[in-house]
Amino acid sequence: DTGLVTLDYGYLNTGSTKSAITYVNGEKGILRYRGYSIEDLAEKATFPETAWLLIYGELPNQEQLSHFRTLLTENALLHENLLHFFREMPPGAHPMGILSSVVNAVGLFTPRFYDDENIASAFELTTAGLISKIRTIAAFAYKASIGEPFVYPEAERSYCSNFLNMMFSSKTRPYHPDPIMEKALNTLLIVHADHEQNCSTSTVRMVGSSQANLYASICAGICALWGPLHGGANQAVLETLLRIQQSGMTIEQVMAKAKDKNDPFRLSGFGHRVYKSYDPRAKVLKKLMYQVFEREHVHDPLLDVAIKLEEAALKDDYFVERKLYPNVDFYSGILYRAMGIPTNMLTVMFAIGRLPGWIAHWKEMHDDPQSKINRPRQIYTGKTERAWIDRDKR
Ligand code: SDX
Repeated sequence: DTGLVTLDYGYLNTGSTKSAITYVNGEKGILRYRGYSIEDLAEKATFPETAWLLIYGELPNQEQLSHFRTLLTENALLHENLLHFFREMPPGAHPMGILSSVVNAVGLFTPRFYDDENIASAFELTTAGLISKIRTIAAFAYKASIGEPFVYPEAERSYCSNFLNMMFSSKTRPYHPDPIMEKALNTLLIVHADHEQNCSTSTVRMVGSSQANLYASICAGICALWGPLHGGANQAVLETLLRIQQSGMTIEQVMAKAKDKNDPFRLSGFGHRVYKSYDPRAKVLKKLMYQVFEREHVHDPLLDVAIKLEEAALKDDYFVERKLYPNVDFYSGILYRAMGIPTNMLTVMFAIGRLPGWIAHWKEMHDDPQSKINRPRQIYTGKTERAWIDRDKR
């Protein structure tokens, strides 16, 4: 009843975006940040170095890195008024909801850098502040959820050591720096740092294109990442592995459930919009996981379940035909669990890693003088024009 509608495809926003930040080749399983391979960065870089590379386009020299480290240290604290957010949230509030709220609120306590006569240094300060504070927000949300006092950032600690200390130390339980876990956290944050036009990054670009400020744009990105089809998948992976372990569900039953079209269950940690081959980040994390477990002399039975699940999927016709391979979320949860990070904090960890990527895309868009407000068009499938019908005739 819609009749024939002629469409001018020229007006449709194809949604494709030009960007010089990250290159992904889904068929070959290639991922590069500003031309550097994810394998090289995961092995040799620090997360602050990677953040600088993504945002400013080059690896920082010693002076730039030292300056950035100073900004991260000096801007790790939250305005004390913000601590009410953590105390007044309902018990069991999901930390992604707290993170998105407090990130937006940080902007209310920070002078808008548009008003600053030196925008470049104001931008540098704002982004370093966000990258630093997101750790504090995450750790305070966790501490509030377990009823423990907040542990404040310390000047002499590295980016990762500061986060783990804020999460796990207390007056009666000092945190002993564990270089293996700190290196593992550094690698995890690097492999999550950017991934071209994924759902949450596209959301940051969409919101930022209206000239909304950086905090509001990042808040929107956090909310998009929360979904179980995107960043929420790492939490869903662990929940699936725990369900298999605790319910006695067999691998075969899980695979059958994942393939059942009448069942909304999907095997989280598998499949990808772009990778139709093994996600290179999953390869990095699988190798790191074995290293960590070997050196820490720990063994998590969930790892056995994960390995069996991967083996079953990689030889299952349904998964092979659809090119469903493990993605970045499949092993990350097991590694974070080995650090003691609770399941409901896993997507927050993804957000901490992804923040520099979001900022880099927001900056790239704002630096482009041709940039316009994003306004996708549609293919209209509704009714053609109709005459009004009086109420007594409906
Ligand atoms: C991230 O985009 C990015 O870059 C994202 C990300 C990043 O760094 O930002 O890489 C991070 O989000 C990784 C993905 C995390 N999500 C999950 O692991 C959730 C589980 N995965 C699926 O929901 C799914 O694979 C998606 C959402 C990731 C991709 O969905 P698509 O593109 O709709 O999958 P598709 O259309 O290519 O699927 C083809 C077929 C379909 O079946 P048929 O209609 O052909 O019969 O494969 C099926 C799908 O139903 N399928 C799955 C499946 N993934 C796809 N079936 C069972 N389990 C799965 N995991």
